[in-house]
Amino acid sequence: MTLRIAVLASGRGSNLQAIIDAIAAGTLDATLAGVYSDRRDAFALQRARDAGIPAHAVRPRDHADRAAHDAALFAAVDACVPDLIVCAGYMRLIGAPEVDARPGRMINIHPSLLPAFKGLHTHQQALDAGVAEHGASVHFVTADLDGGPVIAQAKVPVLPGDTADTLAARVLAREHPLLLETLRALAAGRVRLDEEGLHIDGQAGALPLQLGANNRFA
Ligand code: GRF
Repeated sequence: MTLRIAVLASGRGSNLQAIIDAIAAGTLDATLAGVYSDRRDAFALQRARDAGIPAHAVRPRDHADRAAHDAALFAAVDACVPDLIVCAGYMRLIGAPEVDARPGRMINIHPSLLPAFKGLHTHQQALDAGVAEHGASVHFVTADLDGGPVIAQAKVPVLPGDTADTLAARVLAREHPLLLETLRALAAGRVRLDEEGLHIDGQAGALPLQLGANNRFA
């Protein structure tokens, strides 16, 4: 099926661009129904406009509190009737009411091998911990921050002399194919979340899919 996607982004929007480019190239069977940001100046909104995709800023300061902001944001998102909401660098916490109202319909890309290194500054966290492997994860969003079931991961080595910036660049290069391949798996119905948890290829409790060097799941 053609997946109807809404993207939430706060900044640069390189993951959004990867989706835009894959749709244009015919390698992802999806439509971008809208892009939403908490920041008017998010470059992601510009990327959306340049691609002819409806772009909306819903700013926290225009709303009384987080719940009111969330409600306004998700009212706008619902108006584009997405099958799937993709958080790609959306830097605000989303309250439980909005998350719980959309079970299995919201995913997030996070720059670590979850459950390791939740939250911010994940590349520095990885360096400080001295791990040999780092990477990115795509997971279903639940009310537990960066804690929802992990669908897929891409691993990269941590190399001698790495800084947070060099490591971030290595991870980001894998984030884009990881997100695209996850979207293909979702569109193909390979992955779903229900009351019993995550199912991959019909199997409950499966380990996350792993992105291979060929940018496909192993
Ligand atoms: C990515 O590293 C993503 O994993 C994290 O925020 C960053 C967003 O990058 N959640 P971009 O805006 O897609 O370029």
